[in-house]
Amino acid sequence: MNTFLNCQHDPDKRVASGMRPTGPLHIGHYFGALKNWVEMQHELESFFFVVDWHALTSNYEDTSGIGEYVESMVKDWLAVGIDPEVSAIYLQSHMPELAELNLLLGMVTPLGWLERCPTYKEQLQNIVGKDLTNYGFLGYPVLMAADIIIVRARWVPVGIDQEPHLELSREIARRFNNFYGNVFPEPQARLTPSPKCPGLDGRKMSKSYDNGIFLTDSIKSLTPKVRGMLTDKNRLRRTDPGNPDECNLYPYHELLTDAPTREKIREGCASAAMGCVECKQIMIDGLKRFLEPIQERRARIDAKPNCVRDVIMAGNEKARREIVLTMQAVRQAMKIGYYR
Ligand code: TRP
Repeated sequence: MNTFLNCQHDPDKRVASGMRPTGPLHIGHYFGALKNWVEMQHELESFFFVVDWHALTSNYEDTSGIGEYVESMVKDWLAVGIDPEVSAIYLQSHMPELAELNLLLGMVTPLGWLERCPTYKEQLQNIVGKDLTNYGFLGYPVLMAADIIIVRARWVPVGIDQEPHLELSREIARRFNNFYGNVFPEPQARLTPSPKCPGLDGRKMSKSYDNGIFLTDSIKSLTPKVRGMLTDKNRLRRTDPGNPDECNLYPYHELLTDAPTREKIREGCASAAMGCVECKQIMIDGLKRFLEPIQERRARIDAKPNCVRDVIMAGNEKARREIVLTMQAVRQAMKIGYYR
């Protein structure tokens, strides 16, 4: 039991997760994360935040897009069904206490932990044309730990790629608790069963590859996008049998198409009874069914001028109630709460 908090709260009932506002959301974001958030919010007390400071760690030179992406990301969240009445939706940069906790956690985080973090090493190597030898980039996982533990959440719904960060968050929380007493629950990833959602060209779906299907893509634009997709490359002629497991399009049927139809597709492909054009049409129809209601909600949100601002203000307030309590406990535990 936490000795420094005089509030009743069960960390096992709480989730926290964030997303960087670096571009429009595509269906990979939906199936890989948001779908899970939407489901979890009804079971658990949910804190979902836009990590705009994290967007700065690698995009500090050109910050011009961030504001716009914050706005469109929150709209997308609402459009897919994140409910601001049940979940706290807020903005990282509106929580100055996060900067304070980030600083304090920085005192107990050994440099070696950060330097050895696999995502850090990988990005330092792979991202060319950007100087990432800055303090903020190295400290990315410290700020992420702060995001999670400042609301004392146990569960963090993320994709498997974030596991190293979660492990660091746990270690940082544990080290803090060892030094100063038990303030923080140790966070755990609630791994999103990451469905395969490749980009249109078979590479990872990403804005920078221009190979995505975005939640805001017009219904009209879907047909040419899907028609242009590569399928099983061994299926050269209409009469050649194909293999759905070698096809870049088939994984979408796992997400968008019902099981009996999928069975028909698998059989039809393997026996050459069904051609790629027909199979693509089924995907186009599935995408339309999936995106239409989201886009209808999005249009209603777009029509309300201050919608995002209002949602964020309300979410900030909910989050701040928890954050203020945490920070009181932190200062008390560290014995630096004097004259407050
Ligand atoms: N690192 C996460 C990502 O790139 C974003 C993130 C920042 C986050 N803070 C977080 C995710 C806290 C979950 C919880 O996807």
